[in-house]
Amino acid sequence: MTDLIRPLHSCNWRSWFLAVASFAGLIFQATASESVPGQTKKYPDPVSAQNFLAVTANAHATQAAVDVLSAGGSAVDAAIVAQLVLNLVEPQSSGIGGGAFMLYYHAADNTLYALDGRETAPATAGPEHFLNTDGTPLNWREAVVGGRAVGVPGTLHLLHTAHQRFANRPWRSLFQPAIALAEGGFNVSPRLASAIASASDRGLRRFTPTRQYFFTENGTPLPQGYRLKNPAFATTLHRIADDGIGPFYSGEIGHRIVDTVRSAANSPGLITRLDLESYRTIIRQPVCQAYRGYRVCGMGPPSSGGLTVGQILGLLRHFDLRAAGSGAVGLHLVLEASRLAFADRAKYMADSDFVSVPEAGLLNAGYLRQRAGLIRRDSSMGKAQAGSPPKAVTALSPDNREKLPGTSHISIVDRYGNAVSMTTTIESGFGSRLMTDGFLLNNELTDFSFLPERHGLPVANRVEGRKRPRSSMAPTMVFDHLGQPVIVAGSPGGSRIIGYVVQALIAMLDWGMAPQQAVEMPHFINRNGPTELENEPRNQNLQSALESLGHEVRVRRLNSGLHVIRRNPDGQLEAGVDPRREGLALGG
Ligand code: GLY
Repeated sequence: MTDLIRPLHSCNWRSWFLAVASFAGLIFQATASESVPGQTKKYPDPVSAQNFLAVTANAHATQAAVDVLSAGGSAVDAAIVAQLVLNLVEPQSSGIGGGAFMLYYHAADNTLYALDGRETAPATAGPEHFLNTDGTPLNWREAVVGGRAVGVPGTLHLLHTAHQRFANRPWRSLFQPAIALAEGGFNVSPRLASAIASASDRGLRRFTPTRQYFFTENGTPLPQGYRLKNPAFATTLHRIADDGIGPFYSGEIGHRIVDTVRSAANSPGLITRLDLESYRTIIRQPVCQAYRGYRVCGMGPPSSGGLTVGQILGLLRHFDLRAAGSGAVGLHLVLEASRLAFADRAKYMADSDFVSVPEAGLLNAGYLRQRAGLIRRDSSMGKAQAGSPPKAVTALSPDNREKLPGTSHISIVDRYGNAVSMTTTIESGFGSRLMTDGFLLNNELTDFSFLPERHGLPVANRVEGRKRPRSSMAPTMVFDHLGQPVIVAGSPGGSRIIGYVVQALIAMLDWGMAPQQAVEMPHFINRNGPTELENEPRNQNLQSALESLGHEVRVRRLNSGLHVIRRNPDGQLEAGVDPRREGLALGG
């Protein structure tokens, strides 16, 4: 039995869920409130635990993860359970029809593993994949819906690989919470209801199985609180629980994926059975950057997350952010470093199994010192140009297109000291909108550059057969001078993920904030264009101050989903749960 640490404090659907969990004698912590336009946010109390802690985007998923942790399961066991439940209750963001990156710290051998479960392009996809016959790029809104955008899913393969190496609970048992919810039903959350409504005219009605699942018989979007069952997904989960991933990658579930993708009306895709059979999770080297006495580690290519976060921090090592503070001066320095890193990201970062990515050069201390010299304290540099890191292939053209955010992040620490930081996605909300066997298929191939070349030079992130599209996902772990993980973090948010993660790290490491304060801090983002400020009263004075430094400022909603766990010097685990979504932290 685990400790009851905090009482309930907010009156919403998650509180209700927790009350039921409490009655059942389950574990407690705190919940984040979804922001509602026009209302004051209800921030959660800080959450802490002694032995283990899980933070996910949904109460059901966190509860399922913590049940496993509380029964002695590992962080990987808990992540598998959480992902399967998220697939059901937050279907718009992630699932077995998508891809994921998992950073896993294995305490027994003091090693950090970086598992790449990113989708791959079909073998026959080529640079013209997203081009019209006249060579112009396809219309974005059309390309994201349908089979053409679907990559070979990797999430389930990753979960299986992680389970084989790092789990201590039987595979089958990890499917039971999601099966029970799929069969018994769950209440559509406010966020899911709002996502269905807003996607209803953006392709969510186009394909029959998807329409039948997300809309009532009258054709109205499922409302908040609707009791939703998913028997097709329950059948899928039963099958994979009993028979492993064979039915998915080389059996009848896979065959239906192929049929669904290849027969999608108006936008058939290219995935074949061989593409599915050939899919492999890749265990890669994490990329790490020294910062303020810590090592900040993340996911390398095909994600741009780890390298870009690492570059921004490597540039900021040359500035005293603590002295600069968290006002306009400090923000300006972070925003300028971010411009420089995003310029390099656009030019050099892609799947390193297909293009030469100068990973060491991009994090080279001398290179970053020289680039940091471009940052002026009294004015913005405006649009940054890519640099020339050591060993770079310079004959590349940038891919500057940015994406709509989707995605979900899971942070878990178990009682053995293992930790998981996993960011998982089906790309944009509801992915391709294609559904088979009770789950949605991704549209991750739209993370490739639609244009294969610019100005006669190839774009690193062009489409190629079996290549993995460049991601921005940035699952992150921070290690102290003893090599122990002290922060586990990540967020959804498309290419803004990088800025969200950097801000949370700086808020904790430079500005002395607790995890909850760090995730609540109003956002500021620069992706080598306009500076974006979160539409938040606490940001109001910053706009004119940044404009006077030369920033073109845009104020907007910035919908991160930061989930952070920090181990404090006394050994206590402390969570940060993003109040902008429906996340929940529980521990024991
Ligand atoms: N699809 C979101 C990302 O990979 O960055």
